[in-house]
Amino acid sequence: MPHYGDFQTLIYGAGLSGVQPTLPVDFATLKARAEAAMPPAVLNYVQGGCGDEFTQDENARAFHHWGMVPRMMVDCTERDLSIDLYGRKLASPLFMAPIGVTGIVTQDQHAGHGRGAPHILQHGDLAAARASAMTGVPLCASTLSNDPLEDVKRACGDTPALFQLYTPRDKDVAASLVGRAEAAGYDAIVVTLDTWVTGWRPRDLNVSNFPQLRGAVLTNYFVDPAFRKLLAKAPEEDLRTAIGTWGATFGKVLTWDDLPWLKSLTKLPIVLKGICHPDDARRAIDGGADGIYVSNHGGRQANGGIAAIDMLPGVAEAVKGRVPVLFDSGIRSGSDVVKAIALGADAVGIGRPYAYGLALGGAEGAAHVLKSILAEADLLMAVNGYPTFAAVRAEGARRTDR
Ligand code: FNR
Repeated sequence: MPHYGDFQTLIYGAGLSGVQPTLPVDFATLKARAEAAMPPAVLNYVQGGCGDEFTQDENARAFHHWGMVPRMMVDCTERDLSIDLYGRKLASPLFMAPIGVTGIVTQDQHAGHGRGAPHILQHGDLAAARASAMTGVPLCASTLSNDPLEDVKRACGDTPALFQLYTPRDKDVAASLVGRAEAAGYDAIVVTLDTWVTGWRPRDLNVSNFPQLRGAVLTNYFVDPAFRKLLAKAPEEDLRTAIGTWGATFGKVLTWDDLPWLKSLTKLPIVLKGICHPDDARRAIDGGADGIYVSNHGGRQANGGIAAIDMLPGVAEAVKGRVPVLFDSGIRSGSDVVKAIALGADAVGIGRPYAYGLALGGAEGAAHVLKSILAEADLLMAVNGYPTFAAVRAEGARRTDR
């Protein structure tokens, strides 16, 4: 088993030779560095959320009212952080949550952004995939991408990968995207349920910036044969019309009646992202869903909600281990990861932190963020006497109501 905590030894060891880490290991400093480095429009899009961002802030804050009790005299020299997900052995429970503007967060795109040249392709999606290959942390690749899903999968190397579907209104385009993901070798399809329309995001509205409408991150559609059939002229010849067609066909409102259709599109497991209510989890499993992904989209879609971590235990209880429970929204550290596992998650998604890592240091930057989070999780388990996730779950997390 990898000893993720050894990352700490490496950092201290390098310090003895005068080598300091190029990126911070904690979220607060990472965020501050990203704020100073990222172009304002990209930063707004990544950092911003819905309304006054209460839900978004609560997502992270709520981890502070859950606490874990250490257990002593337990041999924790070996820790097992591996999980099994859809027949694949993963070296850790982490995955990279789908982030639709990954393509434009890396440094190489900054020159063009906001000055009318957003259709110039930048390759943050490939950088994210390379970070996945470097760390063994699977990428959940967004439909919104600057590079075709096939290229992104290839860049993930041997690390398993998930494909996140924004379900187009045109069923042929939806089927084509899913078929391509299956053919490319993705291990599961994650269907996002909460984004058929975009939430009210003041930071982006106040500067009238929505990257997709400027032609960014639409490559998966523009290269898609079924999408291209909707166009009189290819996107290379008439970008404006292609963007308009994308906008007009973007988001299908999904209902429970659509689940059999979604299932019929692929042999891959179908994971439903955005489930927060126990009844929805039960209904999803009854309808054939192969995974439940608890998330409130990082507070980007609806404000005024409950922190995602506070909704996890109820959903996990309803799922009763029948299918994997994936979780994201508010994970900022290794201790957050372990708490999410204690509260019922099988796999834990990192969102904004890796986007900041990409912005500051490309693939290496994102990998650094993932390794830091894994190291803290591993060391917490070592210190607290939890050699396995079974031990973490047996101990659980207690609500402290601070
Ligand atoms: C997202 N998220 C997202 N989700 C999804 O299903 N498809 C997508 O394309 C995107 N795009 C996206 C862009 C940006 C900039 C962010 C920050 C988030 C939501 C994402 O998968 C995840 O649910 C949140 O990032 C979790 O919240 P935190 O932990 O990042 O605050």
